Amino acid sequence: MPERTPYIAANWKMNKTVAEAAAFVDALLPRIAATQCDVVVCAPFTALGAVVERRYGTAVKVAAQNMHEEESGAFTGEVSAPMLVELDVEAVVLGHSERRQLFGETDEALARKVPAALAAELEPILCVGESEAARDAGETEEVLERQLQADLAGVESGDLSRVVVAYEPVWAIGTGRTATPEQAQEACAFIRDVLRMRGAAADQVRILYGGSMKPANAAELLALPDVDGGLIGGASLDPTDFAAIVEAAG
Ligand code: PGA
Repeated sequence: MPERTPYIAANWKMNKTVAEAAAFVDALLPRIAATQCDVVVCAPFTALGAVVERRYGTAVKVAAQNMHEEESGAFTGEVSAPMLVELDVEAVVLGHSERRQLFGETDEALARKVPAALAAELEPILCVGESEAARDAGETEEVLERQLQADLAGVESGDLSRVVVAYEPVWAIGTGRTATPEQAQEACAFIRDVLRMRGAAADQVRILYGGSMKPANAAELLALPDVDGGLIGGASLDPTDFAAIVEAAG
């Protein structure tokens, strides 16, 4: 089995001004100086430049939280992959459940966004996950498989290893309810099985767990065989907490 470099991503959501983002990075960098992990900061569009400026020469990569699939055009309020690349942004979160639920992001749009990100050399962090109702109805695997097949439909099998997948059970996001290690491992292993149907590169894909990950539970979740990292919301807003999670990843 190939070694997968742990991938720890801070999803700030709609938090942090430019000044707050700069202060965070300045506080984070000395705390993670020795890390061997990929450390990623998913910042609001307005703070991307400030994070990019400060992280040159460090392990930190910068991600946006959304993008449009077209390169340019009449799409008021949207930002494209080339615009992010021009800023030296390296990755982009796609399909977060908040965007799916609150802003109507569809699997059809994601099927175009994921290849558009790859074509622009942006690393897509594709989020999938079941609602509480779907889990209660025993439909977790069905939902995950449907989302993965639809959202990755346009990705060549040779490009699969460039995609990062985040398993984010909707009922665990921002709720303080974390998936049990058994639930997280089972879902992430299932995701890898679905990816394996598309090619051997599945063993190289980093699969993250997201949903109320924090310093107190990170080590246990990150030790699971199919959990290669975390997408962290609330606990990523504080540099000490986020650095503790990076440290837990080894
Ligand atoms: P949370 O958010 O860590 O606050 O639950 C995770 C996410 O939405 O990516």
